[in-house]
Amino acid sequence: MALRHALVSFVFLTRSFAANNVTDDYDVLQYVDTLIGTTNGGDVFAGATLPYGMAKAVADTNSQYNQGGFTYDGSAITGFSNLHDSGTGGSPSLGNFALFPYASCENDDVDGCVYPKTSRATGYVNGSVAAVPGYFGLTLDSGIIVDMTVAHHTSLFRFRFPDAGDNAGSPLILLDLTDLQDSRQDNATISVDPSTGRMQGSGRFLPSFGSGTYEAFFCADFQSPSGLRDNGVFVDTRASTDVKALKISRGINGYPLPGGGFVRFKPSSSNTVLARVGLSFISSEQACSNAEAEIPNFDFNTTYFAAVDAWRQKLNPIKVSRRGVDKSTLVNFYSGVYRTMVNPQDYTGYTQGGSNADNIIGDAFVKGLTDGIDWEDGYAAVKKDAEEEPYDWSNEGRGGMVSWKSLNYIPEQDFDYIGFGTLTRSISRTLEYSYNDYVISQMARGLNKTADAEKYETTSGYWQNLFKRDQRSYIQGQDTGFQGFFQPRYLNKTWSYQDPITCSNIDTSGSPCSLQSNAGETFESSIWEYQFFVPHDMATLITLLGGPSQFVKRLDYLHDKGITYIGNEPAFLTVYQYHYAGRPAKSALRSHFYIPAYFKTTPDGLPGNDDSGAMGSFVAMSMMGLFPNPGQSVYLITPPYFESVHITSPLTNRTATVRVTNFDPTYTNVYIQHATLNGKPYTKNWIDHSFFTEGMELVLTLGRNESSWGTRPQDLPPSLSTK
Ligand SMILES: *[C@@H]1O[C@H](CO)[C@@H](O)[C@H](O)[C@H]1NC(C)=O
Ligand SMILES: *[C@@H]1O[C@H](CO)[C@@H](O)[C@H](O)[C@H]1NC(C)=O
Ligand SMILES: *[C@@H]1O[C@H](CO)[C@@H](O)[C@H](O)[C@H]1NC(C)=O
Ligand SMILES: *[C@@H]1O[C@H](CO)[C@@H](O)[C@H](O)[C@H]1NC(C)=O
Ligand SMILES: *[C@@H]1O[C@H](CO)[C@@H](O)[C@H](O)[C@H]1NC(C)=O
Ligand SMILES: *[C@@H]1O[C@H](CO)[C@@H](O)[C@H](O)[C@H]1NC(C)=O
Ligand SMILES: *[C@@H]1O[C@H](CO)[C@@H](O)[C@H](O)[C@H]1NC(C)=O
Ligand SMILES: *[C@@H]1O[C@H](CO)[C@@H](O)[C@H](O)[C@H]1NC(C)=O
Repeated sequence: MALRHALVSFVFLTRSFAANNVTDDYDVLQYVDTLIGTTNGGDVFAGATLPYGMAKAVADTNSQYNQGGFTYDGSAITGFSNLHDSGTGGSPSLGNFALFPYASCENDDVDGCVYPKTSRATGYVNGSVAAVPGYFGLTLDSGIIVDMTVAHHTSLFRFRFPDAGDNAGSPLILLDLTDLQDSRQDNATISVDPSTGRMQGSGRFLPSFGSGTYEAFFCADFQSPSGLRDNGVFVDTRASTDVKALKISRGINGYPLPGGGFVRFKPSSSNTVLARVGLSFISSEQACSNAEAEIPNFDFNTTYFAAVDAWRQKLNPIKVSRRGVDKSTLVNFYSGVYRTMVNPQDYTGYTQGGSNADNIIGDAFVKGLTDGIDWEDGYAAVKKDAEEEPYDWSNEGRGGMVSWKSLNYIPEQDFDYIGFGTLTRSISRTLEYSYNDYVISQMARGLNKTADAEKYETTSGYWQNLFKRDQRSYIQGQDTGFQGFFQPRYLNKTWSYQDPITCSNIDTSGSPCSLQSNAGETFESSIWEYQFFVPHDMATLITLLGGPSQFVKRLDYLHDKGITYIGNEPAFLTVYQYHYAGRPAKSALRSHFYIPAYFKTTPDGLPGNDDSGAMGSFVAMSMMGLFPNPGQSVYLITPPYFESVHITSPLTNRTATVRVTNFDPTYTNVYIQHATLNGKPYTKNWIDHSFFTEGMELVLTLGRNESSWGTRPQDLPPSLSTK
């Protein structure tokens, strides 16, 4: 392991990096810990990847929580595979085409090696795990050191076999036509080239939360100084060097049948085998050409250095002052930023509520992204989501459009004969469709489609149709004291009922709350929490809930009573919504209430599934002190966790700076007394995206008491009804 650590520190010490306008220059990659969230259900991918890379190489474990492949809980290693998700829940997805090494087979017979992954699983040496951006490695109990790096569509694995002197055997590496959830469908294939050992093939697999299937292709090549000995295929526990191709069924009696190929190498006392695995969703030829183009010479160092450079280019534009803060604060921040760039990826259809790709597209639009984007096409796509119900709206678009257009809400027990999907979540879908329409209206405004803009502004108010003014909420018989909550309604416009606390963090009813067909009217959270989800018209919401002070009381109750759970996304914005009630200081306090208590820098440090970097983004944006209201050009200002934050825009190369006067690393003085923007007094408690692109400077002066800064009506973030 010394060698690996040497390699890693070599890169950190000798590479120079683009200087930012910060006095304290340093390499940000030293503060990325890729093992955060690899146990306790974080499901983070800890392996080697490029930013948003397709190849994601890591060791897979047989833990029941192996959604990210590797789980840092001592579970045994089943193989080293190539495609992964990060932070997803549900069944594990991907983890395709695992390799597994043997220093030799018993009696020098290929049948003397163990092929099925259930029986070949092997422990690893505790303390041998080395993981940094672009790199992952460990030592198996068998003594084989395995490490890996990647290019965009290609993994490069290095297997270093223990020195066995004159007793050295023939190392064997198998490639298993498997994935993490054993979902391989009928007729996966593999062929092995007898002279080169190249393996090519494909398999069709199931996704995790999505529907349908996906087909993945691979092309594996091997390099070893001792040279190739022989190769072949295996099925179940048996192998042959005579057979060079295989087409294999899903399995028998529901048992996933192991199958794949293998290569053996000539004995040598110091054997290192490199395995290069190209990947594609198009063809195995494409997988081969990807591999040949990306890693032509099997050069581990060059590939690794390129991966490190790619990460550094992504992360270096974000620099914080290190003065006064401890290392774990920096690690928390930079690892959070890092995880936002591991994913997302989506190889199958996937929706959980509204047509929320609209929000992403709208976010890019209002933040001025133009390069290579046809916004008329982009607008046509989001408008289609709002107008045309797809046949299968579990995967795309929205359901219930007939009711939406006639009743102006999604009813419980809807009658939907146009398209099909799970008829639950009528409240959260109504709220999400409303917000989706708001985002579309902003795009329409920007594209001068005034009639559309007005239409979608109107429909973005449909959330109000599920607000029941006299609804109260009781917890174990006790009145919470708040009146007015969202409630479900039927097709005939009468109210249905869902206890506002159902599916909250303190709900003990055991009700199903996710995508189950018998789940309720809010998705993975309670009415209590969804009550705050009107990101585009908080002013109207605050009025409906009884005005700013009642609203603040209610928000405090949500957090203080543990009704909300910061480990799931509906909680994120509630931490900062005090801004809309003129109490930005309370947002700052609430941020420190959750960080670091619920976000630690340990493998078990995340409060829930990282969800493709969502938890990472929460911790990073919170610590930066600029929390976005996604889909709008709005960042809510709180004091950063650092004395200064510098962010260089890749669009304009200008550097935006937040500087704190009276910085207090104990975070006692977290109250903004006054602020300046580019030297002029600034009283708004939010800022728009031009702050980043134009490289402005925001200076926040802190004190130990809440002040009047950012509290007046004209200081609040925009709401549709007050704009
Ligand atoms: C790879 O980098 C390491 C660390 O700098 C160095 O020790 C090793 O010699 C390099 N290997 C090759 C093949 O260049
Ligand atoms: C760097 O920051 C200082 C202080 O904010 C500023 O005066 C200077 O112009 C900046 N330099 C560059 C190159 O942006
Ligand atoms: C592995 O090592 C870590 C410290 O490196 C230790 O905390 C842990 O208990 C060890 N696990 C086992 C199974 O020995
Ligand atoms: C798999 O291959 C068999 C044999 O060629 C064929 O009968 C069957 O239809 C194939 N199944 C699929 C799903 O393509
Ligand atoms: C919209 O109209 C304004 C004012 O006429 C004009 O400046 C702008 O370029 C137009 N935008 C688009 C996308 O056509
Ligand atoms: C409205 O529909 C619900 C659900 O079908 C039903 O229970 C209720 O009796 C209906 N109310 C009226 C007034 O028709
Ligand atoms: C930003 O800097 C890069 C690297 O120096 C340069 O290639 C690019 O053209 C610059 N972009 C702008 C908008 O100045
Ligand atoms: C500021 O807060 C401290 C501690 O809560 C309190 O003792 C003090 O009186 C406050 N000062 C003012 C001016 O409100």
